[in-house]
Amino acid sequence: MRDRHAVVWTRISGEPVKMGELYTTELESRFVYDESFISLKLPGLGLILSPEIFGLSTLKWTRTERFDFPPPLQSLIPPADEHNFQRHLIMNYLETSGVKRATDLENDWNILTLSGHGGIGHLDTFASDEKAIAWYSTPALPQKELLARDTTLGFSLKNMLTWFDDETGNLLDFIGPTPSVGGAIPKLLLSIPKAGWNGTVGLPTRFGNTQYTDVILKLEKDTAYPGISELEALGLDIHKKAGFETPRYWLTEFNGIHAIAIERFDRDEKCIPVFQESIFSVLASGNREIQSHYDSSYDQIGRMFDNPRIVLIDDRRAAKKHLLKRLLLSFLTGNGDLHLENLSIQIRKGVSDFSPIYDPVPMRAYSIHNMLNVMPFGDYGDYIDDQNDPVDFTLALQRFNQSLGFDRNLLTEIINELLMVTDDFCEQVNQLSRLPEENKKNLIQIHKKIRALLSVF
Ligand SMILES: Nc1ncnc2c1ncn2[C@@H]1O[C@H](COP(=O)(O)OP(=O)(O)O)[C@@H](O)[C@H]1O
Ligand SMILES: [Mg+2]
Repeated sequence: MRDRHAVVWTRISGEPVKMGELYTTELESRFVYDESFISLKLPGLGLILSPEIFGLSTLKWTRTERFDFPPPLQSLIPPADEHNFQRHLIMNYLETSGVKRATDLENDWNILTLSGHGGIGHLDTFASDEKAIAWYSTPALPQKELLARDTTLGFSLKNMLTWFDDETGNLLDFIGPTPSVGGAIPKLLLSIPKAGWNGTVGLPTRFGNTQYTDVILKLEKDTAYPGISELEALGLDIHKKAGFETPRYWLTEFNGIHAIAIERFDRDEKCIPVFQESIFSVLASGNREIQSHYDSSYDQIGRMFDNPRIVLIDDRRAAKKHLLKRLLLSFLTGNGDLHLENLSIQIRKGVSDFSPIYDPVPMRAYSIHNMLNVMPFGDYGDYIDDQNDPVDFTLALQRFNQSLGFDRNLLTEIINELLMVTDDFCEQVNQLSRLPEENKKNLIQIHKKIRALLSVF
């Protein structure tokens, strides 16, 4: 690949400002903050790759298998996986606009510079400053109605592309150079009326579109994951009941596609982007060993919050308590999927904290995802201290709790609270309308087993 150059901007202060320059070669990426940006004292690329730490010095990022670019920028690119819907969609868009498919690195570069703006979080990337200025000054297209014309429409990319079939032709024409989003489930970033979902959608808001609100529309692949949207809704309800901040959501169906529209919390009430960075990006920014979103442990995340040299979350104790409570609730709800990309940090009104909840889907309802957890905690299952038996669930939880610096009373207190919050879990699962019986049965069994294990505390 030839050496390339791009620019990073942000609208985090309400006005578009340039953050810095990005240079990429086959071997590495280099990013430099603009002096004028540094003087604004705003958050930069990420919590670790910050203007405070780097100042005017060049941030050098040697390419790794997983990260062509510094992790906060890589987060703007859906992973190169042939089954990834967002990647597919954006590659198709680029192809229709005359950008040829090439190596993964070149594709990543094209995605980053041609569609890496208006997506999740506060970073916008462009091929040039002129492109940035032009983009920021163009209002988003007006909203359109989601048409329910073709009742035979099933789920496939081809169908998705004709999904908005109208005078403009197809989805790609409709949504234009759409910002992209990561994750495994097919999804689109759209805007809807502020009052709530009513079947009209538009592109994500740009500036001052305050009569609209931004949503992530997650589409249900009902062959692989029947009922996943209502499971996500259940997960959000339970987390809300447990006292976590959760976004508004709307379950919907159009043309036989079930979906859940979830309000984005990386935009404030004025549609201004909020600093948001996943724990994956934070950890990977500081540690080259971290290559996948489960290359860590909850204990390590907890230690990270205690790091004396860097403040990730202002209230360290609250951060660790949040983590413990999230993990316990993920056990009780059969989530099993609380990985590094499903946890994010935000800076709101100058205060850094965990973001509201997203992706709390009880994934263990689906047999291929039926595992206790994607990441280790308290050496669960390991042989330690010359013991004959591996560390069991109870001991692992105690060890994890201890590693967070908490006493046993706090653990018991949180467990009791969450046992109460989930005391009607089995009925709630049984009441779901689309999750197949077999999956319900499994999920309920999983819940009961964890409940029994936690009841000994
Ligand atoms: N409501 C939201 N507001 C802001 N960002 C969100 C929201 N929901 C999800 N995200 C971001 O989008 C990414 C993908 O969404 P997620 O629900 O985790 O999808 P998947 O099930 O495919 O993993 C998340 O990792 C997070 O960065
Ligand atoms: Mg996710």
